Amino acid sequence: MSKPKILVQLDSDKHASVFDAVVAVDSGIDQILQYRQVAVKDVEGLVHGAMFTRGPADLHQTAVFVGGADVAGGEALMEAATNCFFGPMRVSVMMDSNGSNTTAAAAVLAAARHVKLAGAQALVLAGTGPVGMRAARLLAGQGASVKLASRSLERAQQAAASVSQQVPESDVVGVATGSEEETALAASGVDVIIAAGAAGIQLISQQTWQICEQLKVLIDLNAVPPLGIEGVDVMDQQRTEGNVILYGAIGVGGTKMKIHKAAVARLFESNDQVLDADEIYAIGESLEA
Ligand SMILES: NC(=O)c1ccc[n+]([C@@H]2O[C@H](COP(=O)([O-])OP(=O)(O)OC[C@H]3O[C@@H](n4cnc5c(N)ncnc54)[C@H](OP(=O)(O)O)[C@@H]3O)[C@@H](O)[C@H]2O)c1
Repeated sequence: MSKPKILVQLDSDKHASVFDAVVAVDSGIDQILQYRQVAVKDVEGLVHGAMFTRGPADLHQTAVFVGGADVAGGEALMEAATNCFFGPMRVSVMMDSNGSNTTAAAAVLAAARHVKLAGAQALVLAGTGPVGMRAARLLAGQGASVKLASRSLERAQQAAASVSQQVPESDVVGVATGSEEETALAASGVDVIIAAGAAGIQLISQQTWQICEQLKVLIDLNAVPPLGIEGVDVMDQQRTEGNVILYGAIGVGGTKMKIHKAAVARLFESNDQVLDADEIYAIGESLEA
């Protein structure tokens, strides 16, 4: 008889995420072990407990989930967890701090439904945050040319350089969108815009995006009014306005939830999976097929 599925939740926050725990239950996990305020120095002991307790034949029935609001901290926890593995002694691990990977994957998949990303021109507004940088990385990985925008040209260029390093031979440039004029310039000639700004911040006016002749898909990830893209409703899911297809944050959220559940379930198919941005996107692609 197979052992129960155990998910070890390593969370950097004061309270381990209830959201992540509920999704884990809905993904068919039998038992969740929640650890909170986890720091890098704690990871080895926790992961060894997951690796060395059950025999090798049952290792795929235990997995690690890295979460918490601190995305940079989550990346460090993920790296510390994978550093514990050797040879076949490992368990599968997924990182989705602050929903960053699943949200970015859902946004880029929404765009891919309507635009062939290879060769497309994309703009990620407020692309310097964790969701925006992952969206830019995924778009670039699919062969799109990406403009990564920030209010600060320096921050945009730094983030674009970081994404370029992650995706060899990609075309990612930083652009400033500190004013509506700069935003209009950045948006001209693009096929896809993903707005990944902080909650409650409008990034582009309807007047500006409506004059973008080549624009085909607009995706806003901010669910808190005022929304990131004026004229997009939070519930929009493939709503068409003129030649443009619109998605709001909740419209994208359904796909995000499906990806999250499928990724957690995937952890238990083998003991050697490391699910970060690209792998989580690939899971999303398999759901669209
Ligand atoms: N649907 C979901 O399940 C889900 C999950 C996760 C996140 N989200 C949403 O996705 C969006 C992105 O998340 P995130 O964590 O990456 O966001 P974030 O780090 O909070 O912010 C992203 C960027 O927004 C820009 N920004 C911040 N304050 C601004 C202001 N006053 N005016 C203009 N720009 C401003 C900043 O860029 P610059 O300073 O470089 O301009 C920042 O890097 C958020 O709206 C979040 O709520 C949704």
